[in-house]
Amino acid sequence: MSGTDPYWGGEQVVLCRDEIHGLRAVIAIDDTTLGPGLGGVRLARYPDLATGAVEARRLAAAMTVKNALAGLPYGGAKSVIFVPDPGTDRQALMHRFGEFVARTGGAYVPGVDMGTGPDDLSAIASAGATVSCAAEDPSPWTAAGTFAAIEAAVRHVTQGALAGVRVLVQGVGNVGARLAGLLAEAGAHVLVADVDDARAAATARAVNGGVVRLDSLYTADVDVFAPCANARVLDAGAAGVLSARIVAGAANDILADDPTAEVLAERGITYVPDFVVNAGGVIQIHALQEAWTEDRLRSAVNGIGDRVGEILEAARGSDRSPLHIARALAYDVLRGAREGRPGTEFVSR
Ligand code: NAI
Repeated sequence: MSGTDPYWGGEQVVLCRDEIHGLRAVIAIDDTTLGPGLGGVRLARYPDLATGAVEARRLAAAMTVKNALAGLPYGGAKSVIFVPDPGTDRQALMHRFGEFVARTGGAYVPGVDMGTGPDDLSAIASAGATVSCAAEDPSPWTAAGTFAAIEAAVRHVTQGALAGVRVLVQGVGNVGARLAGLLAEAGAHVLVADVDDARAAATARAVNGGVVRLDSLYTADVDVFAPCANARVLDAGAAGVLSARIVAGAANDILADDPTAEVLAERGITYVPDFVVNAGGVIQIHALQEAWTEDRLRSAVNGIGDRVGEILEAARGSDRSPLHIARALAYDVLRGAREGRPGTEFVSR
C-alpha cells in the first residue's frame, strides 16, 4: 500500500538503463499483497528521472487500489519508458526492457498503456518476462464499466434512469466513443469534446448529440461530466466552476490532487473515483487468464455499478468523500489479505 511520500511509498522501484539500446525506464511495484503487480507500460516524455519515477509510483499505487476494489488477485505496479532518441530500434529496446521485467521474477506483470501496444508487449515477453494478455482490446470493457458506473451514479443522485440526462464525454477515442454510443442507446443526451475536431463531429453525429468547445468544458450545461482523455483534467479551480452534478469517467488520474475532491464535495458534486470506474479493462485481463465466459465477464464488469452505488451510499451517510471511502475499502481488502481474513469477492458474486 502506498504511503504519501513520493519517493518511499510502495514496495520496490527499479531504475533501468541501457546505453546500447537507448533505454531509460522505471518499474514501480506498489503492492503485491493480493498477487503479482499488474500494470501497463507507459511510453512518454518526462523532463527528468525524478518526474518519471514519481509518475510510475503514483500510477502503480492507483493500480493497487483499482485491482483490490475490483476483487482481482493482483497487486499494483506500473512502468514508464522514456521516449528514446529518433532512430532507436524499438523492438530491441522493448526486448531489453523485458529482460529487466524478467528480473523481477514475476512480481511485475506488464500490460499495454499509453504509448505502447501489443507488439511492444510481445517484444517484452520474448525476453522471458511474464506479461498480461495483450491481443484483446480492453476498451469496450472499460467503456461498459464506465457506463455502469455513470448509470449507478445517476441513480444515486437523481433516483432516476439515464433517459434525458445530459452527459458530456471528454475524449472520444477508443473508450469515449463507445461510451457515447452506450449512453445514447440508454436515452441520454450526449455531448462530446475532443482536441480532434473531426473525431468529435463524427461521434456527435453517430449519437445524435452535440459538440462542446474545449474552452466550455467545465461550464457546459450538463448533468454528468465524463472525462475519457487526458490526466488531471480537474484541479481545484476547474472544480470550483464545474456545472455538472456528477463526475465519472474512464481517464486515469482525473483529479489533479486530493483537495480537488474536497472542492467537488463541498459544492455538492458527486465524484466517482476513476480507479473504481475504469476497472473494466483489468477485469477483462483476468477473465482472459481464467477463460471466463462472456456472460461472467459482463456480469463482473456490470458489478462496477453495484460497487459505485455502495461507495456513494457510504459517502452520503458520512463526512468523507467517495474518494476517501473507496481508498479505505481498498486498504481494508489489503489489510484483510495480510491478516488472512477472507477476501472481498466482488468479481465473482
Ligand atoms: P484514446 O487515445 O483512444 O482516446 C483519447 C481521446 O482523447 C482521443 O480522441 C484524443 O484526441 C482525445 N484527447 C486527448 N487529449 C484531450 C484533451 N486535452 N481534451 C479533449 N480530448 C482530448 O484513449 P482511450 O484508450 O480511449 O483511453 C481514454 C482514457 O481512459 C485514458 O486516460 C486512459 O488512460 C484511460 N483508460 C483507458 C483504458 C482502456 O481500456 N483503453 C483502461 C483504463 C483507463
